[in-house]
Amino acid sequence: MIKWDAQYELGISTIDEQHKELIKITGRLSDLLTNAIEGDDIYDEMVTIIGAVTDYTVYHFQFEEELFNKFDYEYKDSHIAEHNKLIDEIRSLDLRAVDEDQVVYGKKILKFLITWVFKHITGSDFLYKNLFVEKGIA
Ligand SMILES: [Fe+2]
Repeated sequence: MIKWDAQYELGISTIDEQHKELIKITGRLSDLLTNAIEGDDIYDEMVTIIGAVTDYTVYHFQFEEELFNKFDYEYKDSHIAEHNKLIDEIRSLDLRAVDEDQVVYGKKILKFLITWVFKHITGSDFLYKNLFVEKGIA
């Protein structure tokens, strides 16, 4: 079970809501895998969820990057490079491999998503927290 926790809160409600949404979508994959019974065909649902997480991530990163540019955030280059790397990694998930063993592969994808979503928030996003709060982003 994947859940939002107060420790992930930046105190910037627009961004916190976006992070909650990312965690919610990741949680859908987790629930799907938890509830799957051997032999279930969950391919289409996995593809849908991964598509949703990809689209939402692109949207969220663009939102952050617009603010980085607007405020000329000092770590914007490294943060944007991190975003690009993550988008590349998500896009390169080989969905054809899902057919081989759906649950096993799904769990690998889930682990990857959990790692990066939480690392992104607690690692990189906290670095811009003070600047955005100072600039009045709510
Ligand atoms: Fe973020």
